[in-house]
Amino acid sequence: MIHLSAIEKSFGGVPVLKRVSISVAEGSVTALIGPSGSGKSTLLRCVNLLEVPEAGTLVLDKETLHFTGQKPSPAAIRRVRRQTGMVFQNFQLFPHRTALGNVMESLLVVLKWPEAKARQRALELLDKVGLAEKAQAWPAQLSGGQQQRVAIARALASSPRVLLCDEPTSALDPELALEVVEVLAQLAREGTTMMIATHDLRLAASVAHEAFMLEAGEVVEAGPSAELFTHPRKERTQRFISSLGNDVPAGWPTAKAEA
Ligand SMILES: Nc1ncnc2c1ncn2[C@@H]1O[C@H](COP(=O)(O)OP(=O)(O)O)[C@@H](O)[C@H]1O
Ligand SMILES: [Mg+2]
Repeated sequence: MIHLSAIEKSFGGVPVLKRVSISVAEGSVTALIGPSGSGKSTLLRCVNLLEVPEAGTLVLDKETLHFTGQKPSPAAIRRVRRQTGMVFQNFQLFPHRTALGNVMESLLVVLKWPEAKARQRALELLDKVGLAEKAQAWPAQLSGGQQQRVAIARALASSPRVLLCDEPTSALDPELALEVVEVLAQLAREGTTMMIATHDLRLAASVAHEAFMLEAGEVVEAGPSAELFTHPRKERTQRFISSLGNDVPAGWPTAKAEA
């Protein structure tokens, strides 16, 4: 459903992604792990064209883009963006909008939905992330975990084909991270396609079916997450995973293998 093939991206002549190829099946969750600076965020940003690769191919549902060093057309960028939702480490809610207003924004502004329909959809999504009673709250009145759940509802508003999450729990204390993990795990069970860059093995082990280990812009190892996290084949992956030192605690949700 998403195919990235031989993606190359550099900044100021320094290669950051080196012929990276990743496929993500519809309804599956893919974790991107790897040390800081390995290219995880850049790769996610290439999927929604916040960064444009210099070479390679992106297939997103019916859209195929071959990168040749030129910027894709604004129409192609729009089509790709509409099929992706993005969740950031630091939430990035609009501070001057309520939780409800944040979730409604893209429906009103981008999709031009009528107010009542957008409100109903936004309330359903806030309910889905367990925040129906916070619809009228301002971001500053919400905990970090609640803000991130609003951000997830906002990213889902336009029914994207894929949810891209960049370190969604990294700014949160463990208890608040858990409520975000539970929401993402529920979305995974419902078949939401997701790509999640994370340092958090608890998150990755809870929701990811597949995992890719990146280092210095290259895929070091890939495989089913249960195997990659518990029996990494590459010494580099082993070292990285043990350096995280965040084993999965008892009681955390665990990803179910795809039927
Ligand atoms: N906009 C940018 N301009 C210049 N260098 C960048 C930019 N974005 C990322 N980089 C560099 O690209 C590399 C990969 O960064 P990033 O994708 O953020 O890695 P990760 O998310 O795995 O920590 C790093 O060396 C980073 O400094
Ligand atoms: Mg990053």
